[in-house]
Amino acid sequence: MNRVYVCSCFGITEKQVREHAEAGACTPRQIASASKAGTDCGSCVRSIQSILGRGGCPRRELSAPAAVGATAVETAVAQAAAVQAVGRSAGLEAA
Ligand code: FES
Repeated sequence: MNRVYVCSCFGITEKQVREHAEAGACTPRQIASASKAGTDCGSCVRSIQSILGRGGCPRRELSAPAAVGATAVETAVAQAAAVQAVGRSAGLEAA
């Protein structure tokens, strides 16, 4: 069996991180709560972030607009509204 260790301090493998992510741990902090990975030297936190960013967390994908059925137009409208809100808060209202 080929084990890829992510956290050598606690012997946590990539497979274990993925399992915790599938169970709902979607941030390095939540992975740490579930497995202690990242709570000693911290050198594995970037690797854990990378695993989560590569689809290790299915719940993160579900929250993306495309995954909940939003059309490209709906997504563009939402992005435009967000840009306008940022502009208003920065005092950049169009004249
Ligand atoms: S390698 Fe994970 S805390 Fe040290």
